Amino acid sequence: MARSALLNVMVQAAMKAGRRLSRDFGELENLQVSRKGPGDFVSNADYQAEKIIREELAKARPNFGFLMEESGEEEGRDKSHTWIVDPLDGTTNFLHGIPMFAISIALKHEDRIVAGIIYNPATDDLFTAERGRGAFLNDRRMRVAAREDFHDCVVATGVPHLGRGHHGRYLSQLEAVMADVSGIRRMGAASLDLAYVAAGRFDAYWEENLSPWDMAAGILMVREAGGFVSDMKGGEKMLETGGIVAGNEIIRKYLMRNLKRAQV
Ligand code: IPD
Ligand code: CA
Ligand code: CA
Repeated sequence: MARSALLNVMVQAAMKAGRRLSRDFGELENLQVSRKGPGDFVSNADYQAEKIIREELAKARPNFGFLMEESGEEEGRDKSHTWIVDPLDGTTNFLHGIPMFAISIALKHEDRIVAGIIYNPATDDLFTAERGRGAFLNDRRMRVAAREDFHDCVVATGVPHLGRGHHGRYLSQLEAVMADVSGIRRMGAASLDLAYVAAGRFDAYWEENLSPWDMAAGILMVREAGGFVSDMKGGEKMLETGGIVAGNEIIRKYLMRNLKRAQV
């Protein structure tokens, strides 16, 4: 499948930043790391990857704005287009030598995500999607899993940790879901959790307290792979509330039902 010019720009930026991340991943002992908050680390790898992505995207589309995890919001001359970027999703994995991390880049036009890519340089998995044009893993078209029985499902999630989230509420959600499914996974990179739902590897996924850059590209990817995404109340306010539930239509509904049972 020939990629559009837009996706090519995004892929090139991610590949370039990915080469830098791979180098840093191979020499973790030399990496400068600082703490943003309790249990929340940032490294020179995050900053360098973000710089490369910003430069590449700005070169190709000089007027677009940015919303980037490390450098924040920057309005462009073209106010209708914004890049939403997580230069390193899964920093905790990265810093522990666990090869489960990714670069996530989305493009928002007006209120819609129109393109998204998620790239794991450690596995060379490249997930891409464009609105109305499907979702792909490398060059293969992706479809969400077709399972309809919740008991057969593997469900991914994000577990709150030191300084983050409502631990009691999460435990009751987990209890309500785990009793009904074949397995629960906590991979540690929200963008990849969504990409894996799009690829049919995970049947469903939920998490709260996310930021727009964790999920913007992944939301489009799941939808373009035929899946459904909502916030924790079944609405469309994922980017605003930080909560997300994803899967095929039937399984997302089962997951919602179980999560509701747990709401405290
Ligand atoms: C984190 C990862 C993780 C999720 C956290 C995110 P970061 O992003 O996506 O899976 O559970 O809530 O903050 O900090 O590694 O970019
Ligand atoms: Ca992230
Ligand atoms: Ca990050």
